[in-house]
Amino acid sequence: MRRTIIAGNWKMHKTVSEAVFLIDELKPAAAARPDVDVVVCPPYTALDAARRAVEGSAILLGAQDVFWKASGAYTSQIAPAMLTDLGVRLAIVGHSETRGRFGVPEPDFDADVLRHFGETDATVNRKIRAAIVAGLTPICCVGETLAERQAGATDSVVASQVEGALKEIPAAQVAGLVFAYEPVWAIGTGEVCEAAEANRVCGVIRSTVGAMYGPDVAEAVRVQYGGSVKPDNAADLLGREHIDGALVGGAALKAADFAAIIAASPTG
Ligand code: PGA
Repeated sequence: MRRTIIAGNWKMHKTVSEAVFLIDELKPAAAARPDVDVVVCPPYTALDAARRAVEGSAILLGAQDVFWKASGAYTSQIAPAMLTDLGVRLAIVGHSETRGRFGVPEPDFDADVLRHFGETDATVNRKIRAAIVAGLTPICCVGETLAERQAGATDSVVASQVEGALKEIPAAQVAGLVFAYEPVWAIGTGEVCEAAEANRVCGVIRSTVGAMYGPDVAEAVRVQYGGSVKPDNAADLLGREHIDGALVGGAALKAADFAAIIAASPTG
C-alpha cells in the first residue's frame, strides 16, 4: 500500500510571516490525517522559519529545487546539504517552470529569456542523484505540453523524461522516489486533466519504471498528479489506482483549499 503524499508547491509566493501563518493554519488538517504525508514547499527564503513552524507537527518540509554540487563557485545555487541542514526532507526537481515550459504563456518571455529556465533531463538526473545521496526525497516532475499532447506524443514525452531522470540510478534508490505527472497545459490554467486520463498517464510512468527496474520497484514508486488540483476535483483524482497524491500549486496557497485536498485523500 503506497502512502498518499499531498505536497504544496508555493512557487514564488509568501513572505516569511505569511509562510509561518499558513503553516499554522494547516496544522489541524495534517494532524487529522496521520495516514497522509503532508508536504509544504515554500520559497528558500522562508525555509528556516518554516522549519521552526512545522516543529512538533507532522508537516514535512520540501524545497522547490536543489543543485547537484556539494559546494563551490555556483552563484545563486543551493546545495543538498544546505537543505537538509534546514530540516528539508524533499525537493521538487524538474518542474516544468524550471524546464522553461510554462502552462500560462508569459508574454514577455521570449526565446532569450526562456533560456534562463534551462532545466533538461540531464540536469534533472544530476539533481535527483545528488538529492538521494544527501537523504532528500526527490519529487520528479514530468509532463507534456499542449502541442505535444495534440501531436499524440504524451506517452513518449513522459516516458522519455522518466528514463532521462533515472539514468544510472540503482533500483534500491528508485523505490523511494516520488514522481509528479504534471501536464504543462494544466498548470495554473484551471484546465484539469480528466481523472481517468491523469490516472492512465500516471500508469505510463509506473510502467516505464517497471520496464527499467521490474514490478516491485514500479509498485513502490509513488506518483502524484499535479495541475489545477482543487478541493472539488481532488477526491476523483486521488481515488484512482495509479495516483498516489497531488502536487498542488495555486490551491496550496489557501489553507482552507489545501486542507480540503488533504481531507479528500482516500482512507485505508
Ligand atoms: P497549479 O500548479 O496547481 O497551480 O496548477 C501545480 C504545479 O505547478 O505544481
